[in-house]
Amino acid sequence: MSSSPWEWLWKGDEDVATPFLTGAVSRCAPSLCGLLKRRDAYQGTGHGPVMDSALVGKVVVVTGASGGIGMATARRFAAEGARVVVHYRTGRDRAEGLVKALGADALAVRAELTREGEVRRMFAAVMRRYGQIDTLIVNAGSWASESLPVDEIPLRRWRQTVDAVLTSAFLSVREFSRVMRRQRRGNAVLVASTAGVFGEAGHLDYASAKAAMAYGMVRTLKNEFVRLAPHTAEYCGGRINAICPGWTVVPRNAAKLKDAATVRKVTATMALPQIGRPEDMANAAVFLSSDVLARHITGQTLVVAGGMEGRLLWQPEEIDPTTA
Ligand SMILES: NC(=O)c1ccc[n+]([C@@H]2O[C@H](COP(=O)([O-])OP(=O)(O)OC[C@H]3O[C@@H](n4cnc5c(N)ncnc54)[C@H](OP(=O)(O)O)[C@@H]3O)[C@@H](O)[C@H]2O)c1
Repeated sequence: MSSSPWEWLWKGDEDVATPFLTGAVSRCAPSLCGLLKRRDAYQGTGHGPVMDSALVGKVVVVTGASGGIGMATARRFAAEGARVVVHYRTGRDRAEGLVKALGADALAVRAELTREGEVRRMFAAVMRRYGQIDTLIVNAGSWASESLPVDEIPLRRWRQTVDAVLTSAFLSVREFSRVMRRQRRGNAVLVASTAGVFGEAGHLDYASAKAAMAYGMVRTLKNEFVRLAPHTAEYCGGRINAICPGWTVVPRNAAKLKDAATVRKVTATMALPQIGRPEDMANAAVFLSSDVLARHITGQTLVVAGGMEGRLLWQPEEIDPTTA
């Protein structure tokens, strides 16, 4: 064991340590052998293996795992060695196909998440099978595809969207919190949207519900989760964070995102002007769910959208400089 937590930097291969300490790493690329020695030296400090998520054997419930982002997330957790619960509503074939493909200890469960009784039954079924739930990924959600200004949004649509996005998230985290209270362990990730951060003209219902998840919900629950699952010397305590995907290509929107004008519009304010991939969200969810990698992170809202700064509101030809 090293006497200093930083000793791994200079113990081992001189070719690695010397340039690192003099800030000249880029001019003196270390050999593969040197890199491996550095990694081994780091592992010798007692900090554990390099970037081990420690998710092996954890039970992870992914809601909406019959859809694009949820499916990629379920796959990623399975690759980390987690036992994955693949939730679906109507996409039974996709969910069961995924469970078969995972080949690990996975389970498909159906629930309409806006219905209290169905959510309760889903969590009960998971507890019967596994006896614990370590992580909940609140990913299920939908939006009304028709773009409507506020004065044209029917109350019925408003209620449906708020139910599908926000009420379903509430029912899912509420049921999970009851499990957490009993097992005194657990963390969650809410999948919100950049619509909640920057707004989304034509989709007030969706943007409002996602903003509630990304801010009020996650910041309130960070203070409650740690009471349900208190920290100890070995355990970080119950945590919750939110991810806000930008436009992400999934089967539902793949055709729309082939349209060049749409791609230009939605990437125009991004430092990395690419459409997100479901795996980008999956990687963020895995990181935030790891009590090792994200031990000290809770109540945060992570925007995964290539450095997006907002919406492209006007085309140049729409702007009249004489009235500006
Ligand atoms: N893709 C994007 O560009 C994007 C951007 C920002 C945020 N998001 C958010 O990311 C999440 C996943 O989106 P996605 O693009 O992967 O969508 P998707 O492919 O359409 O999948 C949506 C999933 O949610 C489930 N679901 C929807 N409403 C439900 C309800 N009331 N009860 C139970 N399950 C329900 C669906 O189940 P069934 O299909 O089985 O019915 C499906 O598994 C959503 O919350 C979405 O708002 C997506």
